[in-house]
Amino acid sequence: MASQVLVAANRGPLSYALDADGTLSSRRGGGGLVSGLSAALAAQPEALWICAALSDADREAVRRGVSEPGVRMLDIDPEVYDDAYNGIANSVLWFTHHHLYDVPREPVFDAAFRRRWDSYTAYNQAFAEALAEEAAEGASVLVQDYHLALVPGALRELRPDLRIAHFTHTPWASREFLDMLPDDIRSQLVWGMLGADRLGFHTWGWADNFISGATMDDVRGVASAFFPRDGQSGVHHRRTTADGSGYGEKRFTAVTQYPLGVDEEDLRTLAHRPEVDDKLAALRAEVGDRRTIVRVDRTELSKNVLRGLLAYRELLTVHPEWRGRVVHLASAYPSRQDLEVYRAYTASVRELAAEINEEFGTEDWQPVLLSVQDDFARSLAAYRLADVALINPVRDGMNLVAKEIPVVSEAGCALVLSTGAGAYEELRGDALTVSPYDVSATAAALHEALSMPPAERAERTKRLAAAATALPPAAWFTAQLDALRG
Ligand code: G6P
Repeated sequence: MASQVLVAANRGPLSYALDADGTLSSRRGGGGLVSGLSAALAAQPEALWICAALSDADREAVRRGVSEPGVRMLDIDPEVYDDAYNGIANSVLWFTHHHLYDVPREPVFDAAFRRRWDSYTAYNQAFAEALAEEAAEGASVLVQDYHLALVPGALRELRPDLRIAHFTHTPWASREFLDMLPDDIRSQLVWGMLGADRLGFHTWGWADNFISGATMDDVRGVASAFFPRDGQSGVHHRRTTADGSGYGEKRFTAVTQYPLGVDEEDLRTLAHRPEVDDKLAALRAEVGDRRTIVRVDRTELSKNVLRGLLAYRELLTVHPEWRGRVVHLASAYPSRQDLEVYRAYTASVRELAAEINEEFGTEDWQPVLLSVQDDFARSLAAYRLADVALINPVRDGMNLVAKEIPVVSEAGCALVLSTGAGAYEELRGDALTVSPYDVSATAAALHEALSMPPAERAERTKRLAAAATALPPAAWFTAQLDALRG
């Protein structure tokens, strides 16, 4: 049966593992997109989620016809998928939007890049075709993230009757970084996105970056202007015809912010399951009556885990009074380990944590408890135990952890938050804010956070939690769907 509401995202709500005896088991996917979208879709039982098979086990599930209701996994050729996901989405687009390039060496746009870009285009086309196949007449399609930036344009070609939205869960690159892409690639990227009727970002900052990039003079064939219409920002555009002799249809793409928040009740329920209680008891036994500084991230370059550890080391050096009285609970669970740069980063995180433990640890005190397992229950237990939350990304679309910890921390927590997080726009008033690069300022903020009087901490946490829950996933999704349906 054709669907009225469809979402498309690279990662699905679950992924499969194949045991030695050939049994398939499923588990929840990681990262902010999956947690937000899964929560949103719980209230949309009719919706169809189209995602990619990410691994051999997922492909096996597709072949065996194993699936969950409301989910369709696409079995894309593994080489095409690898080039599109690792080669372009995570090595080029992710680095461009997060400004992560080590510029003396990167980026390099050569023949190998062109081959990968062709795969990225094919992979986007596969999503567009699956959506075109599954969508009812006039259906609403909500495409997610940088993996699928070309889908809106490709889908509009196939099915002009559909209402198409795209939401970006990452930042959008500043003009300088967007400008690094080869001209024709930048143009394809922007035109792919402009195929949508509506584009969503977590903050106005990222939305403005998109508008400014899309209206750059040299994005080929774009005759565009940007001005608010009915209080709505966006881009007017007309594409030059293939022979360059004129312009095609004039269209408007609205560009809006939808700052994803968390659902207080759901999160509290999750955080108080017996499994989490057990993990909490175990953590309490390890930590004793010491204060805790908590962080939970994928081991992701943009999360800035290394400078966080350096700041903790500086705290213990400059404020020796905290030695033996604080523990840094750092969860940095594995992510994107197919990429060498992520494996090296993960190794550096482990080394630095070990160095700090070596330098300051005593017989009965381990300064850093690093967990590199993807253990959701343990992460929630750490949230509950948090006295201080350390969220210091260099650049991050939103950062839901910054919103989750204040909601579940039991004694209220002081939030140390960098200016690079999208969440900074909403939480800055009650956080201790730092530049992500300034290790000394971060160390000083950690000291201030640990020293904050309990009453002030409780007050700030209350306001942080209120801001964090302003737009929970279901409302975030419905707002976009309603706007799309006009
Ligand atoms: C970010 C991206 C998501 C992605 C998640 C986890 O939040 O915006 O699209 O799913 O990271 O990354 P992964 O590569 O494991 O899907």
